[in-house]
Amino acid sequence: MSLKSKINSNYLPKHVAIIMDGNGRWAKKQGFKRVLGHRKGVEAVRQALEAATELGIKTLTLFAFSTENWNRPKYEIDTLMNLLVSSLKKELPTFQKNNVKLQTIGNINMLPKKAQKELSESIESTKNNTKITLNLALNYGAREEIVSAVRSISKKIVNNEFKIEEIDENTINSHLYTFNLPDVDFLIRTSGEKRISNFLLWQIAYAELYFTDVFWPDFNKEEFYEAILNYQSRERRFGKTSEQIENNNK
Ligand code: FPP
Repeated sequence: MSLKSKINSNYLPKHVAIIMDGNGRWAKKQGFKRVLGHRKGVEAVRQALEAATELGIKTLTLFAFSTENWNRPKYEIDTLMNLLVSSLKKELPTFQKNNVKLQTIGNINMLPKKAQKELSESIESTKNNTKITLNLALNYGAREEIVSAVRSISKKIVNNEFKIEEIDENTINSHLYTFNLPDVDFLIRTSGEKRISNFLLWQIAYAELYFTDVFWPDFNKEEFYEAILNYQSRERRFGKTSEQIENNNK
């Protein structure tokens, strides 16, 4: 029985987020330059997207570039940005064919103009697609996201758009970059690191976490299925008891 056929399509995570880690180490292990790991990483992105789409997962968020990644050597940053542009160009027909909607989270204005242009064109031309949302975190940092939410909420308070007492979790949710997305159900990090690294801090409050030693370039469809099966073997209680869950939350 294949791994894929063991997956229960009635109990899929709605939103899967992935910290794609280990490109550099994957390359080094085979005696290649780091950037080759990123090239191979793009193939893994395609596999994860294909697997998620075929299963019927509605949102896939990928941590493609963090606010901290600007500290990397210029050559590596340039390679990552060029890969982003060339991959978007190349994949656009596949996005259309597979009904994939592209969106981003993070401060896109700081990316190279070429990348901004390619992103906005791809976002515009896939905006009516409905099968899955591919959400790329680019120049993204969760603390920065929360700071920017606090700023916009504060402005609205100063402008008397609402009162301090009216602020609740929904207010915060609706001012984050992810305002239109459900909470993350399942967070995957590859390469053996067990850290969150400033990724979606608010949105992973109740997420199941999955850490694998596999480096990102080796994270193929079968690895993705294995991760989903692992998710399905867990019981999500949201603070309730097992008995309550068994008796349908009563
Ligand atoms: C982490 O590996 C990976 C990244 C910082 C970037 C991920 C980017 C891609 C897979 C390619 C471009 C993306 C898209 C969406 C087309 P690392 O370099 O931190 O690896 P290391 O920890 O082994 O050094």
